[in-house]
Amino acid sequence: MTASKSELYRDLGVQLAALAAGETDLIANAANAAALIYHGLPDLNWAGFYFRKGAELVLGPFQGKPACVRIPIGKGVCGTSATRAATVLVPDVHDFPGHIACDPHSRSELVVPLIGDGAVLGVLDLDSPLLSRFDDADQEGCERLIALFLDHHRRYPG
Ligand code: SME
Repeated sequence: MTASKSELYRDLGVQLAALAAGETDLIANAANAAALIYHGLPDLNWAGFYFRKGAELVLGPFQGKPACVRIPIGKGVCGTSATRAATVLVPDVHDFPGHIACDPHSRSELVVPLIGDGAVLGVLDLDSPLLSRFDDADQEGCERLIALFLDHHRRYPG
């Protein structure tokens, strides 16, 4: 990770912890996390959460344009990340078969799963209008932010 990117993600981690401090409500903390990430990272056109309900991912707190509400597990980039229980980094969404185009301006995407007690609870989805916006440093940084978010909710369940 370059120094500036690692600093940026470290700073976002500090801010995320401060925003969540003393608050156990998952939706409230997810809403602030989405806003923090959307405004803290450059060149995003969407940042937010989907939470798993049965065989679907259902739209949660986000920043950006209105988005598709329900995504079947296994479909699109988000559903693929949920099936694999692994991060999916897509440099060009046009090359990802089954990509769900909520906003035609999105060109690259990063989806990080939320895993608790071995189960996929949801995903964090980031979209960018730039090709190849996300790299390994963004993946690592976002995985750390999600680990921090999940750790907070494990320690302070609502
Ligand atoms: N592009 C995603 C759908 C969600 S929106 O981008 C907000 C996908 O293929 O899963």
